[in-house]
Amino acid sequence: MRILFTGGAGKAGRHAIAYLLQQGHRVLNVDLAPLALAGVDNRIADITDAGQMFDVMSSYAGFDELDPGTGVPRFDAVVHFAAVPRILLKSDNECFRVNTLGTYNVIDAALKLGVCKIVFASSETTYGVCFADGERKPDYLPLDENHPTVPEDSYAMSKVVNEATAQCFQRRSGADIYGLRINNVIEPEDYAAQFPDYMQNPSLRRRNFFAYIDARDLGHMVERCVQVDGLGYQVFNVSNDTHSVATSTSDLIAEYYADVPLTRQMDEQETFYSNAKAKALLGFNPQHDWRDVLGR
Ligand SMILES: NC(=O)c1ccc[n+]([C@@H]2O[C@H](COP(=O)([O-])OP(=O)(O)OC[C@H]3O[C@@H](n4cnc5c(N)ncnc54)[C@H](O)[C@@H]3O)[C@@H](O)[C@H]2O)c1
Repeated sequence: MRILFTGGAGKAGRHAIAYLLQQGHRVLNVDLAPLALAGVDNRIADITDAGQMFDVMSSYAGFDELDPGTGVPRFDAVVHFAAVPRILLKSDNECFRVNTLGTYNVIDAALKLGVCKIVFASSETTYGVCFADGERKPDYLPLDENHPTVPEDSYAMSKVVNEATAQCFQRRSGADIYGLRINNVIEPEDYAAQFPDYMQNPSLRRRNFFAYIDARDLGHMVERCVQVDGLGYQVFNVSNDTHSVATSTSDLIAEYYADVPLTRQMDEQETFYSNAKAKALLGFNPQHDWRDVLGR
């Protein structure tokens, strides 16, 4: 498939693009910075500029596409990751502006140029726990996609707005638009660097529901979304199967969630951030576990 990927030079995108290339897809990365990775095409463009988004989506990916003499091919899918990826990087209003306007521009251009599959990065923060002032707890566990999304910070607010934008665009177009409520992205080198601290102090993971998503498994999730058609508008939690600390699930519940209703029994290493929907509808099957890396 010919895929346009926004924000692919970033932490999550570069692993997702590597995975897509491994699966034989052609990828054009659209970002403010290029991705130095063999096999990927780059275009420097700003998602907040609608004209630039229309241009890159109706453009050749590379010089070789000039050779057939048949004009510009259409993209088969757009994966949209470009964003200000959390609070406290830019002003709150700039974070909200870039993320909401950028997402509108990317989806609008993609649909008007005939793209039928759009995958976009939403966030675990939509559930309102991650960047809350003080401690907020989920309404119930395990936390699935039906949980309310009423956050109180500009970044998560932008992601909730983006989900509404995507759903509205889907209604008119009938395209497949899938939003990924991505948990905390962990790159391979992060395991040795960060997880010993998480073993010592599990509360460091409280704001992420103690969950995580390996960057390579996120790449696999993006690929499943690109491959599976016909689901209309969907949002999916994206996490690994197990939680990110050495403490048992029952001990975590006793310490952090004693007053939170459980909708079912949970396994002792099971993630609180349910990935059941992605497994059922997309065949998501994450392969990486921090315990294998750290020998736990
Ligand atoms: N990293 C995480 O743990 C995490 C968790 C949940 C959701 N997400 C979401 O996943 C996506 C990727 O996150 P990341 O961690 O890789 O962030 P990142 O900051 O590492 O990468 C984002 C990329 O977007 C690009 N970008 C920013 N503004 C742009 C603009 N105006 N035009 C074009 N490109 C622009 C940046 O240059 C960067 O390469 C984001 O949408 C983020 O909100 C990330």
